[in-house]
Amino acid sequence: YLKNHMKKICFIVAMAAEAKPLIQHFGLMHQGGRFGQAPSQVYQGNYKNIEITLVTNGKDADTGFDYIGCEAATLSTHLAIAYYHPDIIINAGTAGGFASKGAKIGDVYLSHKYIVFHDRRVDIPGWNRMGQGYFPCIDSDEIARLGGFKQGICTTGSSLDMTEDDAEQMRQTGGEVKDMEAAAVAWVAQLYKTPILCVKAITDLVGADRPTAQQFDDNLSMATQKLKDACFKIVDEHLLRKKK
Ligand code: ADE
Repeated sequence: YLKNHMKKICFIVAMAAEAKPLIQHFGLMHQGGRFGQAPSQVYQGNYKNIEITLVTNGKDADTGFDYIGCEAATLSTHLAIAYYHPDIIINAGTAGGFASKGAKIGDVYLSHKYIVFHDRRVDIPGWNRMGQGYFPCIDSDEIARLGGFKQGICTTGSSLDMTEDDAEQMRQTGGEVKDMEAAAVAWVAQLYKTPILCVKAITDLVGADRPTAQQFDDNLSMATQKLKDACFKIVDEHLLRKKK
C-alpha cells in the first residue's frame, strides 16, 4: 500500500520509552514547545528525502509519567495532522497479545481490516457499534508478507487489564491486539482522511500466569527494539522501495 508519493510520514507514539529507539534510529530532533501548552512533543528529521515527524503524548506534570491512553492520543494525532499534514500516520507502540491466537512476546503485528474499541458499553442499537468504532486502516497484506509481520485486528481500551465485558466485546469484533491508543488515533485519522497503519510489538500475553504489568515491565525494552526494527523496515523497504 505504501506509495512512492508518500513524502511525509508521521509516527504517533504514546510513551517516550517506545519512541526513543525510533528517534535515535531516524536521527530526529526534538522541536521544543511546538504545540504550545499541549503536552504532545514533536521530533522531526529528514530520512532519505522523506520528512519524518514523530509525536509523543508527553508527560503529566503532576505525576511525571507519560500520558498514555485515548485522550492524549487524540490530542497528539489532531495536532500532528493539523500542523504537518502527513501522507500517512503510523501508530507505533506496544500491545498485549493472546496466546490463543498464536501471539508470542516480541511479535510485531500490523493493523488489519479495522480498528475497534473494546471498553465502551452502550447497549442501544446503533450506539453500540458507533462506540466500537470500526475505523479503517490501510491494507497491510503486502507489508506483512514481505516483512514477515503478523497481522491482527487492533482493539483499544483505557485499561491495562481486561474485564470479562472487554473480552466479550473482543470476541464480537475479533480484536486480537490489545492496546490503549490505536482506535483513538484511527478515529482522528479517519476524520481527516489520513491513511493509518498501526505497528504494535507484543509486551505481554493477556491471561498468562504472570500479571500483565510485570510482563510489560520485563519486556518493554526488548519490544521497543523490535518495534523500531519493524518501523525502520517498513519505511526503508516499503515506503522507499521504487516501484518496478
Ligand atoms: N500495552 C501493552 N500491553 C497492553 C495490554 N495488555 N493492554 C493494553 N495496553 C497494553
